[in-house]
Order: sequence, then C-alpha cells, then structure tokens
Amino acid sequence: MLKDKKILLCVSGGVAVFKAAALTSQLSQKGATVKVIMTESAKKFVTPLTFQALSRQNVYDDTFDEINPSKIAHIDLAEWADLVLVAPATANMIGKLANGIADDMISTTLLATTAPVWIAPAMNGNMYNHPAVQKNMKTLTSFGYRFIEPNEGYLACGYVGKGRLSEPLEIISYLEQFFAEGQIEQKLKNKKIIVTAGPTQETIDPVRYFTNRSSGKMGYAIAEEAAKWGADVTLISGPTNLPTPQHVHRVDTKTAQDMYDEVLKRYSDCDVVIKAAAVADYRPKNIFTEKMKKQPNDWVVEMERTKDILATLGEKKEDQILVGFAAETERVEEYARGKMERKNLDMIVANNVAEAGSGFQGDTNIVTIYKKDGSSLPLPLLSKNEVAKRLLMEIEPLLEGKSYNDC
Ligand code: CTP
Repeated sequence: MLKDKKILLCVSGGVAVFKAAALTSQLSQKGATVKVIMTESAKKFVTPLTFQALSRQNVYDDTFDEINPSKIAHIDLAEWADLVLVAPATANMIGKLANGIADDMISTTLLATTAPVWIAPAMNGNMYNHPAVQKNMKTLTSFGYRFIEPNEGYLACGYVGKGRLSEPLEIISYLEQFFAEGQIEQKLKNKKIIVTAGPTQETIDPVRYFTNRSSGKMGYAIAEEAAKWGADVTLISGPTNLPTPQHVHRVDTKTAQDMYDEVLKRYSDCDVVIKAAAVADYRPKNIFTEKMKKQPNDWVVEMERTKDILATLGEKKEDQILVGFAAETERVEEYARGKMERKNLDMIVANNVAEAGSGFQGDTNIVTIYKKDGSSLPLPLLSKNEVAKRLLMEIEPLLEGKSYNDC
C-alpha cells in the first residue's frame, strides 16, 4: 500500500522525535518516498543528518533556505505530497495549525497543501487534556485532518498518562488502511452527485407544519460514502439533526418547493441524482400569516399537490443517472417498478417500511434495488452505510458507460 507513495513527514520538537526517525526508516523500507521537514526544536533532539540518511532525501527546516533555486520549497513540498504526517505533533504545532499561523516551515507548508493530513500528537498527559489543546484538535478535525491518538503509558516527563506518540508500526497501519480505502475513493473521482435527504416541512401557519418521519440517515450515509469514493457531492437536505458528512457540500432546504429549486438549478451539470428524500406530496393550499386560533369546530386544511421533483428530472433527463427511493407498506415490487417507469429512472431502491429493521428512523435498512433492465438485487438487513456502499457499487459501472449486462 505504501509503495511509491510520497509522504511528507513533519517533525516538531519533543522527545518522541526519535520515533519519527524509526518511522522514516520503516516507511522507506515499505517503498514510500519520505521527505522530512523539521522544526528548530525538533533538531535539538535528533539531527537532520539522521533523517537525511534514513530517507535519502534532503531535510527541510527553513522556509527561506531554498535548496533548489528553481522551486519555492514549501509550495513544492505541499504539492508533491500524497499525504502529510505530522509526527510527533506538539501542543504548540497543533495550536499553530488550528489557527492558521505560518511562522515556520511546517506550519507554512501545511497551509499550502491540499493533501490529506494526519496528526500524531505527543506531549505530557495534562497538556494533551488541556481544553485549549482539545479545542485545537477539534478545529483541525473540522478541517478534515485525521488524528492518530497517543497511547497511554510512561511519559518522558516522569508521569504516566495519555500522551506517548503511537508506535511507528501503529502509525504505519493507519496510513496503509487509508491508502487501501483510497483505492475505492478514486472510483467516483470527477463525478458530480446530488443526493437529497430527510423530510420536507410544509408550513400551515407560523407555528405549525406538515412533515414525515424521515430522519435523513439513508441519504446522509449515501452522501458520506460517495464523498469517500472521491465524488463531488452536493447534499440537498430537508430539516434533520444530522452532522454534515466530511467533504460534502450541504444545502439546507425546508419545503418541497425549496428542494425542487435547489435540485433543478444543479441538474444539467451533474452525473447522478439520488433522491433519498421523503418529499411531501401535498402542502397546505393557504399559509396563514398569523397563528391559527382554535375554533369550536373541526379544522379542515385544504391541501394542494407539490411538484414531483424526480418526475421532473425524469422528463428533463439527458445522460444523468437517476436513482429513486420507494418506501412502501405493501406490493413493494409492483409500486417500486411503477415509479421507476413513470419517473424515467435507472434504478429504484425499495423497502417495506413496515418490516422490522427497515425504514425511517433506524440505522439499518432492508432494501431491494430494482433496475431498468428488469433485474433486481435484494439485500439483507444491513447498516445504512453498507446499503449506501452497495448502491454505489451498482451505480458506478453505469457511469463507465457499461450496460447493465456487463455489471
Ligand atoms: N419524490 C420527489 N418529489 C415528490 C415526491 C417524491 O422527488 N414530490 C421522489 C422521492 O424522493 C423518491 C421517489 O420520488 O425518490 C418516490 O417517492 P414516493 O413518495 O415513494 O413516491 P410518490 O411518487 O410520491 O408515490 P406515492 O406517494 O403514491 O407512493
């Protein structure tokens, strides 16, 4: 997994720098090219010569010491790397990276890179638990940085606690797994995918609305998985309580009409639309601007049809792949296939919401994927993330221009 990978190892100053030297050696033995940047304090623990000998590469430590005059070193390194690993990452370095400070070669290079960044902290246990460090790590997580947590054990400062840099082999196993997953990532690279998720809310008056039981979990799982496969994902979401998956562009909507507008304006430019949202079919005909007061008699709310987003996409379809969802309580196949035909879809994911383990609120689903060519793929009880993966496995060959029979 690490053969021919370009790894930029950023070494900040702590006693664990000696492990970074071992890490350099082991990464090189696995076929990776390792380039090392050191801070001034890291050099006080181990000399650059050690890293140079182990990596057989120049070691960088000064933003202004341009080794090759034809290149700006920190930009060149930032662009060169397949992956950046900061190990050991001190509290100071984590603080600088979280706040966009660029006053040494590591922090400057990290601002310039778009490569995935892994951070392996090492410090005293109290420092590690300090709210400032914890907050900075949270900030870095929100940037998409990944962490290899330190281990508990004897620390150089004499304490026993959490703060020991992970062992080199442990760090390497994280990187290997990351690159293994990355091979899947490439599969949807450069593909634009719109996923809709969640319920819609149709207003009656300033305090009331009609909605449904959709949690949005299925659509969010699809968006998350598609982003992992390298797709450019826009998640058009109804109101949910779910966090936005990493690397997903989220657009919040409320009503069926909002969702219609947001989907339609992106449609001509996308490769796939997956409509997992539970869109309201009806909305109140009149929206009251003031709160409706209760009356002695019944209240009849007149409803009108909303636009069917998926049917509209089916009518306007060029070469996009269209995937619908059908939540049914009876005659699942008949209704699902009927929708696929009426809405001009390539695929429909159907489930019987009355079945245990299947449906709106839970973390699992039991679905059958029906395809335009008449075939079907019944899936067992699976997590929604696993259903998302299986669905993308069915969609991906269609994007390669293969026919269903090739799949
Ligand atoms: N859908 C949509 N716009 C609507 C209603 C539904 O885009 N106004 C989409 C859903 O996102 C789903 C598919 O159509 O992917 C099927 O939704 P469903 O509510 O099951 O189908 P309906 O056509 O509304 O049929 P019915 O309510 O009669 O079951």
